[in-house]
Amino acid sequence: DWTMGAYREEAIKKIREQVGDAKVICGLSGGVDSSVAAALLHEAIGDQLTCVFVDHGLLRLNEAEEVVTMFRDHMNLQVIHAQEQELFLGELEGVSDPETKRKIIGKLFIDVFQKYADQIEGAQFLAQGTLYPDVIESVSFSGGPSVTIKSHHNVGGLPEKMGLKLVEPLRELFKDEVRALGHELGLPASFIGRHPFPGPGLAIRCPGEITREKLEILRKADAVYIDQIRKHGLYDDIWQAFVAILPVRTVGVMGDGRTYDYACALRAVTSVDGMTADYYPFSHEFLGETATRIINEVKGINRCTYDITSKPPGTIEWE
Ligand code: XMP
Repeated sequence: DWTMGAYREEAIKKIREQVGDAKVICGLSGGVDSSVAAALLHEAIGDQLTCVFVDHGLLRLNEAEEVVTMFRDHMNLQVIHAQEQELFLGELEGVSDPETKRKIIGKLFIDVFQKYADQIEGAQFLAQGTLYPDVIESVSFSGGPSVTIKSHHNVGGLPEKMGLKLVEPLRELFKDEVRALGHELGLPASFIGRHPFPGPGLAIRCPGEITREKLEILRKADAVYIDQIRKHGLYDDIWQAFVAILPVRTVGVMGDGRTYDYACALRAVTSVDGMTADYYPFSHEFLGETATRIINEVKGINRCTYDITSKPPGTIEWE
């Protein structure tokens, strides 16, 4: 795409002008926005860039390894893999209130990010994958509803606190343009087309108390579900799909034995911007096959439901 080719050259030039030979830190989440921002910055300033990938223990199966391997080994970026699972899961122990979970995770995220950023000597800039809609949204928020539905964690205020200047190379772009730019920069299609994944991760897909056991079960179930969706060629038709593990055990029968295991809910929605959403109309055949696979392949789950709530009145995530 010639437009993106031109944008890329222009963006690289601007980054070099802004940054000079200072060092830049970038939070890498593995999502499309931060991935494209990191790839673009790397192309512009090479090893002046260090990325910090915070592993809070609430990631999906193999996710941390995939992200770190791709950026470090295949794209040659300097990536710090912050292994902070113990810290996050420790602080979340016994917590079941959704807003409390979000606040704990948001606060720790900032603490951890700051801790690692402080180790990068001479850093003067913090890069963020802010998009144009994010810029607009934060402006319109001030006149928007005064009720907080969910506290999103973000790193607003962090740059000033750390004495860093912001670099936001995607500020003029919409999501589809970011994807085009990612493609232009050579990021694999599997990364560019990824469904969104929330900052608080699996914590908000595990209503009630978060335990390592539940997270383990959830990761396996989610992997089977996404595998099914890919195998049926549905991944790109869906905005977001995931499993939530429910805080309830139910009785089942398998072989000639009684089971007493967790129930789970499958979620899949279509959406344009995440603000409203419809549940995805899977065929009964797909749902039946997927439920059977999850129950057979994932120890700890013996019941599967499909969430057919739209947004509004529901939200996409369960918490
Ligand atoms: P809800 O559940 O509010 O989600 O309908 C709308 C979209 O936002 C994502 N989401 C988040 N993303 N930090 C994020 O980066 C968050 O705290 C957060 N909470 C929800 C959600 O996955 C969906 O795409």
